[in-house]
Amino acid sequence: MSKTTVAELLQSDKISQEVHVKGWVRTFRANRFIALNDGSTINNIQCVVDFENTDEPLLKRITTGAAVAITGTLIESQGKGQKVEIKVTHIEILGDSNPDEFPMQPKKHSFEFLRENAHLRIRTNTMSAVMRVRAALSFAVHNYFTKNGFYNFHAPIITGSDAEGAGEMFKVTNLDLNKIPKTEDGTIDYKQDFFGKETNLTVSGQLEAETYAMALGKVYTFGPTFRAENSNTTRHLAEFWMIEPEVAFNDLNDNMDLAENFIQEVLREVLENCKDDLAFLDERLTKEESTKPMAQRSEMSLLKKLKFVTENNFKRVSYTEAIQILRNCKPNKKKKFQFIINEWGADLQSEHERFLVEKHFKCPVILFDYPVNIKAFYMRLNEDGKTVRAMDVLFPQIGEIVGGSQREERYDVLKEKMKALDIDEKELWWYLDTRKFGTAVHSGFGLGFERLVLFATGMNNIRDVIPFPRSPQNAAF
Ligand code: 4AD
Ligand code: MG
Repeated sequence: MSKTTVAELLQSDKISQEVHVKGWVRTFRANRFIALNDGSTINNIQCVVDFENTDEPLLKRITTGAAVAITGTLIESQGKGQKVEIKVTHIEILGDSNPDEFPMQPKKHSFEFLRENAHLRIRTNTMSAVMRVRAALSFAVHNYFTKNGFYNFHAPIITGSDAEGAGEMFKVTNLDLNKIPKTEDGTIDYKQDFFGKETNLTVSGQLEAETYAMALGKVYTFGPTFRAENSNTTRHLAEFWMIEPEVAFNDLNDNMDLAENFIQEVLREVLENCKDDLAFLDERLTKEESTKPMAQRSEMSLLKKLKFVTENNFKRVSYTEAIQILRNCKPNKKKKFQFIINEWGADLQSEHERFLVEKHFKCPVILFDYPVNIKAFYMRLNEDGKTVRAMDVLFPQIGEIVGGSQREERYDVLKEKMKALDIDEKELWWYLDTRKFGTAVHSGFGLGFERLVLFATGMNNIRDVIPFPRSPQNAAF
């Protein structure tokens, strides 16, 4: 007598056979109908209890959230909405759940409430659908790169360098914070710290990945990254997972091709493999949209949006062209933007990115060739001396989903740029070495995994697509 999952049973043809299944009670109706879920699928299996022949005390223990083991006969369902159900012959309560205390009642909870109960929110339909899609996307990422000849590279989590030069790092130390050792000139004596130097949690595995691309050709990282930026938005986390491919001999055009193909392929795979969860999330989003005023409603359902991205080319536009569009657009002229675009050189905010994607081009956009002053030091300088070979992929609702570039491979130019930005050559001697020994054109990008999950699931807040979100003033669980 082997144990089966709900997913297997719902698809099985073992009619009239005895089956065994374990799971959690979602609801118990009329002392008869258990909706049982075990995580294997969004769908529940209906288990019909013979209440006349079941002890009253046992019936009382069948409550929402309780863990149960069920033995019964699989029969064709009499009711609507399901093909099969289980006629229960034996039920064992594995773990009780006090209905007066269990927070996940079978009703609609706010996402705020669910975040406060992040350890239990996975027991809801929405969160379990999101996390199954997240797992499928993660697998699709590894699958895509493996199929295309990339090696997975594990970048270090603790680093001594600031890859993005933005200074938004969490420090790593084992110094006693109540007795910080000081040098003679009064600064912190990091020589006495664990690593004998200042260290932090990585903001990106790119610089290390570049060294590996210079030997393995095609590599990618997929790991946690950390940013101490005080951005309390629906798109920022302090701890998030980033996917960073890095490819030797790829120029910026190759890099754009890779980003576009990669995103389309992983979304296609999820469309294919997560049909039930996506159908549920599609319906959830449609319901949510229907509560908004007409003008704010999305024109496409979730499934339509996903298919649109997988079936249409991303529009490639230079930064200079984008600035012209933005300068002349209605919201800019009518001062509807929070940040008005006046001049070439302005950094784009998410309101501008979303305008380009949602209102102007109405499709994902890849912006490239940004001003040198608003991008990181490692990006390749163009012949004009004003722009760098940067690219950002912009998505509806999300804004920037990918940031990448062709890297500056010329030793002298890179050294000059580092000097101009006051980046310590001694800290990055190993990075400069890659430009001294067999340097070559190479490119890569970083995709924020949670932003991709956000898009794929149609959720609104990035804190609802990672199991235990970390954000300013919040590291519970
Ligand atoms: O544009 P970013 O800062 O680029 C880099 O870190 C490069 N070193 C990547 C590379 O070329 N290998 O970040 C890349 C992506 C962003 O486009 C965004 O999707 C995501 O990482 N991201 C965040 N996601 C969630 N929370 C945050 N605080 C994020 N910051 C960046
Ligand atoms: Mg960026």
